[in-house]
Amino acid sequence: MSLRAVVTGGSGGIGSEVVRELRTRRWDVISLSRREGCDISDEDQVVKAFSSLKSLDALVHCAAVLIKRRFTDMSAVEWDVQVASGLRGAFLCSREAFRLMQDRGGSIVFVSSLSGVAGAEKFPGMAAYVAAKSGLAGLTEALAAEGREAHIRVNAISPGAVDTPMLRIAGVEGPVLQPADVARIIVWLASAESAPLSGANLRMDP
Ligand SMILES: NC(=O)c1ccc[n+]([C@@H]2O[C@H](COP(=O)([O-])OP(=O)(O)OC[C@H]3O[C@@H](n4cnc5c(N)ncnc54)[C@H](OP(=O)(O)O)[C@@H]3O)[C@@H](O)[C@H]2O)c1
Repeated sequence: MSLRAVVTGGSGGIGSEVVRELRTRRWDVISLSRREGCDISDEDQVVKAFSSLKSLDALVHCAAVLIKRRFTDMSAVEWDVQVASGLRGAFLCSREAFRLMQDRGGSIVFVSSLSGVAGAEKFPGMAAYVAAKSGLAGLTEALAAEGREAHIRVNAISPGAVDTPMLRIAGVEGPVLQPADVARIIVWLASAESAPLSGANLRMDP
């Protein structure tokens, strides 16, 4: 029987590489994104998306939205969209994953960012994104503790600039990582090869 993974944001730059890499390794992969019919910040849509699954070996949470805006110009809606996809979506999908992994264990990988690493350089116009990624760092530690007994591992990866459409929105210049290189590390965290690692937040500088 093949291993099964859910990847949020599997239609995006890094996410699509994660889906490709997992499928190359013969994983059965479901991608959740708005253009594929699932907004992961919507509780009903997330519950429905996971409801057909009998088991789950890995969840990779890649989905995020970045709206670059001066803090004083940012609307509450723009704030909510970013925190909803990055953090509320992580909660909703992890809760479903935890329920499915309760008996056999599994691996959850949060794709965070250097923006969410305390003390790493921050850029103006990204307050909501930074807040969501910082929340993801805390959620990684909290869920690693909560999942330990059931052998559910929870880790995060925090890359710097990656060559995807989101980087054009960020407008950050300098060295970049390639999506495929980040995806390989994510797939390693998702797979049993990285056991028993849990609660880690791997910083990946370009
Ligand atoms: N690029 C970088 O420099 C960089 C650096 C560090 C970390 N990261 C992180 O890496 C991850 C992937 O980023 P990327 O650069 O590949 O960005 P991207 O190309 O913009 O992809 C983002 C993905 O998230 C999906 N998404 C957004 N909101 C969603 C929602 N509410 N529900 C479901 N899907 C949603 C998008 O699909 P739809 O639009 O169809 O929903 C898309 O597939 C993100 O978590 C990002 O923060 C990126």
